[in-house]
Amino acid sequence: MIILGLETSCDETSAAVLQSELVRSNIISSQHCHRKFGGVVPELASREHDRLIVDVVNQALQASNIHKNQLDFIAATAGPGLIGAVLVGLCFGQAFAMGLGIPFIPINHIEAHIFSSFIQDETHASPPTFPFISLTVSGGHTLIALVKEDLSITPIGKTLDDAAGEAFDKTGKMIGLPYPAGPEIDKLAQSGDPYFHQFPQALTRHSQTSKSYDGNFDFSFSGLKTSVHRYLSLQTTDFIRENLHHICASIQEAITSVLVKKTLQAASAYGINCISVSGGVSANSMLRKKFQEQTKTHGIQLCIPKPIYSTDNGAMIANLAKLKIDRGQFEPHTYTYHAFSSYL
Ligand code: KG4
Ligand code: ZN
Repeated sequence: MIILGLETSCDETSAAVLQSELVRSNIISSQHCHRKFGGVVPELASREHDRLIVDVVNQALQASNIHKNQLDFIAATAGPGLIGAVLVGLCFGQAFAMGLGIPFIPINHIEAHIFSSFIQDETHASPPTFPFISLTVSGGHTLIALVKEDLSITPIGKTLDDAAGEAFDKTGKMIGLPYPAGPEIDKLAQSGDPYFHQFPQALTRHSQTSKSYDGNFDFSFSGLKTSVHRYLSLQTTDFIRENLHHICASIQEAITSVLVKKTLQAASAYGINCISVSGGVSANSMLRKKFQEQTKTHGIQLCIPKPIYSTDNGAMIANLAKLKIDRGQFEPHTYTYHAFSSYL
């Protein structure tokens, strides 16, 4: 079975070819035109996807040595995302599938992140064991969910305001880092002291008496933004420049600690022995390290996709299409307008 997966929901134009279980190619073209604006400009993103999509798909086919006539299915992100950006991949994917006379499968972007730890390539990663607790942390979403064998996803915690990636990007912007600031903070924090300044970790209250968790698996990062803003306003420019790596490490500590704590508490509350972490923020080295240490201590299986499959990519779209096909969970003629209404 050969599947072409397309992803264009934000600022990555990506196409991947999956053959049987394995990723044969995964081409990702990241848009750098947004940097000077400090965030993604939706109209520019749509135009970039439109300019790049044919080339990216051709590259994915060439790199995998697969001819378009060998494709069995085409899958594309159908939302959530920037509407114009989503439309480029979705319309291209549908038109291509129609032209080739093969089925088209619309895919939910967040679900694709959730199942990205199942992606297999030549390195043969161990997939999660059902049921598992999933933490999905991206620029737009922060979600803890219980995931079962039938691919059902039951949300048990989410952010009440900003997403974890947004918290990285917006606090990074305050200290003068370019967009997206997440990877920049990660790099600078390598040489910083995470306890240099204690930024707040919201909604982590424990019961006074039992020390048990109060059962709130939601997150909030807007207070962190305010706290960083206040802290910076009290420092001199020289102090901020000289201690940038410490400030980055302290911000990273506040964001990653709360993510790890709540995910482990959710696993314990639901009696689950496997955790999967996905989405762009799961590329963060401190988050990975904390999860590795904590899951080892608690004897929990941990699955985190390679960083290349953590951020937006076409392989995760083809991968979820494959999981759905294997379970007979797709209707070949579910064409887009219907898909849109349920995804956007
Ligand atoms: O999943 P993704 O590529 O796109 C969305 O669906 O949003 O996630 C992008 C987010 C951005 O906020 C970016 O700053 C963050 O993931 N990110 C990171 C790292 N790499 C990407 N955050 C912290 N550390 C990283 N190494
Ligand atoms: Zn994403």
